Amino acid sequence: MLKILILAAGLGKRMKSKYPKVVHKILGKPMISWVVETAKNFGKVGVILGYKAEIVQNFLPDDVDIFIQNEQLGTGHAVMCAKNFIDENDDLLILYGDVPFISKNTLEKLIDEHKNKNNEVTILTAILENPSGYGRILKEKNGKIRIVEEKDADENIRKIKEINTGIYVFNGNFIKKNLDNLNNKNAQGEYYLTDVISFANKVSTIMVDDFIEVTGINDRVQLAKVEKEIRKRINTKLMYEGVRIIDPDSTFIDPSVVIGKDTVIYPFTIIEGNTIIGEDCEIGPMTHIKDSKIGNNVKVIRSEVEKAYIDDDVSVGPFSRLREGTHLKTKVKIGNFVEVKKTTVGENSKAQHLTYLGDATIGKNVNVGAGTITCNYDGKNKHPTFIDDNSFIGSNSSLVAPIKIGKNSLIGAGSVITEDVPDDSLALGRARQIIKENWVKIKREESKNANNKK
Ligand code: UD1
Ligand code: CA
Repeated sequence: MLKILILAAGLGKRMKSKYPKVVHKILGKPMISWVVETAKNFGKVGVILGYKAEIVQNFLPDDVDIFIQNEQLGTGHAVMCAKNFIDENDDLLILYGDVPFISKNTLEKLIDEHKNKNNEVTILTAILENPSGYGRILKEKNGKIRIVEEKDADENIRKIKEINTGIYVFNGNFIKKNLDNLNNKNAQGEYYLTDVISFANKVSTIMVDDFIEVTGINDRVQLAKVEKEIRKRINTKLMYEGVRIIDPDSTFIDPSVVIGKDTVIYPFTIIEGNTIIGEDCEIGPMTHIKDSKIGNNVKVIRSEVEKAYIDDDVSVGPFSRLREGTHLKTKVKIGNFVEVKKTTVGENSKAQHLTYLGDATIGKNVNVGAGTITCNYDGKNKHPTFIDDNSFIGSNSSLVAPIKIGKNSLIGAGSVITEDVPDDSLALGRARQIIKENWVKIKREESKNANNKK
């Protein structure tokens, strides 16, 4: 059995934030959530919190054990605060809340090494061209390993390029026994967890292949750098899978997103959350899609799409906004400056210009004229609109909900419709036009005469 302890009590001073470091989002998810999700693959998870613990706690699942370290007296002290979590019979994996991209694969290798060698501790290390800031790995002749922090290191030790990533597996019995032997007699006056390692007789290291996995995030510059690198990898993977990304540098796609072959993503496009996009689509430029499902052969240009379903062969935009609960069926066209919310638009129907469709159900082959508004809100409640198949809504109509427009009906342009319209009918609801012939001419001559008299 394995237990996993995530250290996340530090305040993250360099973030210059009123929020704890580990709740800052990276690729749309709090840093700590990346670590917790990976950790959960291996067993029971405990988290050590300190600075504004109650804020971090909100981001954690219920089955995670929480331990509080009120004063941050070092990594060793942090683990002491969770002593009850450690079981003599279980191994203990240590992770950091601010090292979000450690992979399941690497941890499996670390755990395998630990088990195969029957170690007291197994350390994940890396070789760095510039190792400054990190603890250095010192392999002694008697097989023991010492980790020396940069601040405690002499010139020779500082030259060592193998660094401590801070990720280890401990034998539960070994760490529990040795935590009590720690002291804080070092340059930083902290209880170093790394000192426990020097007590181990059975210890070995494995090296991480990909440094991004063990990169800690200390400030917002590092946050942006790491995020950029991961985004680059996501885009590269998608391109190898058959997605055309015109400009990977200006395309931001979350790791959870699925995109089909031969779909083209144009620049300045953001695709987030649980989004699935089919094949042969054209997305962007300048489009933002979140938590939506999009079929094949769909065009979405310069638009906002959130929590929407879009079926095959639909065209959206430019400048459309699809909100929660939108469902556009096959061959629908939603054009410029059209907002759609909690509305189903039936097959082959169109709303091409300057329209608001809210809480509506629209049938097949409906044409919604420019400037049509579903007046769904009376100031207190929302009401539904139904427009049946083959109807034509004239431009600049207001449909005051709750309202039903029957099949094959016609609404005259500029109407305010307050009563249900039966099938096959024409409805007009506007002031009748009047013509006053020669009115302008008469006025002009009156004013000319008046001026001549002056
Ligand atoms: C630590 C290691 C160092 C390693 C480096 C890798 C020690 C003594 N040093 O150094 O060898 O190269 O990580 O990044 O362990 N934390 C707490 N409570 C504390 C102190 C820290 O929860 O009292 C947490 C922090 O929130 C952070 C993690 O532990 O997530 C690491 O702390 P940090 O101060 O960054 O350790 P380093 O000094 O960088
Ligand atoms: Ca650090």
